[in-house]
Amino acid sequence: MSAKNGAIKLVAGNSNPALAGAIAAWLQQPLTKAVVRRFADMEVFVEVQENVRGCDMYAIQSTSYPANDHLMELLILIDALRRASARRITAVVPYFGYARQDRKVGPRTPISAKLVANLITQAGADRVMTMDLHAGQIQGFFDIPTDNLYASPVMVRDIRERFDLSTLMVVSPDVGGVVRARGLAKRINAPLAIIDKRRERPGESEVMNVIGDVTGRTCVLIDDIVDSGGTLVNAADALLANGAKDVYAYISHGVLSGGAVARITASKLKELVITDSIQPTEAIRVARNVRVLSIATLIGDAIARTAAEESVSSLFD
Ligand code: R5P
Repeated sequence: MSAKNGAIKLVAGNSNPALAGAIAAWLQQPLTKAVVRRFADMEVFVEVQENVRGCDMYAIQSTSYPANDHLMELLILIDALRRASARRITAVVPYFGYARQDRKVGPRTPISAKLVANLITQAGADRVMTMDLHAGQIQGFFDIPTDNLYASPVMVRDIRERFDLSTLMVVSPDVGGVVRARGLAKRINAPLAIIDKRRERPGESEVMNVIGDVTGRTCVLIDDIVDSGGTLVNAADALLANGAKDVYAYISHGVLSGGAVARITASKLKELVITDSIQPTEAIRVARNVRVLSIATLIGDAIARTAAEESVSSLFD
C-alpha cells in the first residue's frame, strides 16, 4: 500500500478484535504482533513484538465498556509505539467514550471529553480517527488533526436496499439530534420528523410531542448512541401512538448497557441496526430485532487514504 509516512502498520488493543481483524483483512495488512495484557493487580502492560521504527502506525481501539480499561490500553499502546520510534501514530477510535461529557453540566463538574482528548494527545498520538462523535465540536478538543468519519454511507446503503423510500420518514429522537437525522434524510430524499420531549411541570412525567405527520409512515430513528435504550423505546411508542406504521432505528454506536438488549427485544421496535464500532456482545448477536452493520471497509478506506495523504472527506460526498 502506498504511504508517504513510512510503511503502514496496524495494531489493536483488546476492545474490538473482530473489527480490527476485519479492517486488517480489508487492507490486506496483517495486524502487528502485540500483547496487551494485565499484571496481577490489573495494571495494563503492552509489548509490541515487531519492529515499528519509522512506520505509519494505526492503533485501533474503541474506548467502549469497560471504558477506563480500554482507554488506558490505548494510551499505553500509543506510548509503546512512540518509544519504539514509530514515525506517525494515528489513534483509530471508532467509538470515542466519554464523548457525552462534552460540557460543564453544572458548577464543579468536569469536561471529561476534553480531558480524554488531552490524554490521547499527551500519550503521543499525531492524529485521531473516530466516527460519529456525539458532538462534532469535540474535534476541536484535539490540537492534532482529527477525522470524524460518518457511518451514514453504510446506513444509507442498507436503508436503500431494504425500504420503499417513498413511505419512509426519518425521525430524530430528540431535538439535539436534528442535524444528524436531517443529514441522513437529505441523502435519501426523505422527510424528517422530530420528537420533542418536554416536562410541562416539575415532577410530571415527560411528554413526547411528535413534530411532523408520521401517519402510515415507516419511521427510521437516527441517533449516535443507544445506551439504556430508553430514548429509542419511548420514541418508538410515541411514533406508533401517532399513527406510524412501524419503527426502525439506525444508531452508530451500540453501547447497550445493563438490560438494554432485553428492553429493545421487548419493545415495539421492528429492528435496531447498529454498527460494530463497539464489539457486539453475545446478547446482541442473538437478539431477535438487533442487526449489526460493519464499518470495517469505511475505516479501512479512511486509513488507506490517510496513509496516501488523500482526501478522507470525499468518502462522504
Ligand atoms: C443523547 O444525547 C444521545 O444522542 C442518545 O440519544 C442517548 O445517549 C441515548 O441514551 P439511552 O439509550 O440511554 O436513552
